[in-house]
Amino acid sequence: MIKILFVCLGNICRSPMAQVVFQNMINERNIEDDFEIDSAGTEGYNEMCHMGIHRGTKEILRRKNIPFEEHYSRKIRKQDYEYYDYIIAMDSENISDIESIVGKDYEHKISRLLDYTKSPRNIKDPWYTGNFDETYDDVVEGCEALLEAIYK
Ligand code: 4NP
Repeated sequence: MIKILFVCLGNICRSPMAQVVFQNMINERNIEDDFEIDSAGTEGYNEMCHMGIHRGTKEILRRKNIPFEEHYSRKIRKQDYEYYDYIIAMDSENISDIESIVGKDYEHKISRLLDYTKSPRNIKDPWYTGNFDETYDDVVEGCEALLEAIYK
């Protein structure tokens, strides 16, 4: 069982998109029993407001015919570090924010999603850019590269 936690700032735009896209990829390959997937944020305000997935993320997932269930924002917890095998951040700021919550990454579990691609970079936050299409393309590129890298 490979356990993956996707992490962004608010856990309503990028990391739930990555969670759904990755889940869909493993479902299509019938390898979903080998994985446990979740997502979380580094900030707690959306959890306090019981926020679901952002409308922009839902719209593009529907447009791409990717099935998904509702996900409610939750803040990453210290014990998530022990539980998950891979903690996959969307940008460099997420990584320092994660480490401020879980402590130093001694087990080298934390990386950015696009670090698995040929051009390592941040995934821009569509909360600020409004560009969910760009985020989706980056998320698909990253999830394909991640699956290729960790599942033999
Ligand atoms: P996310 O985007 O980190 O991709 O989920 C954000 C969502 C909400 C907020 C910031 C970023 N916010 O400030 O509420």
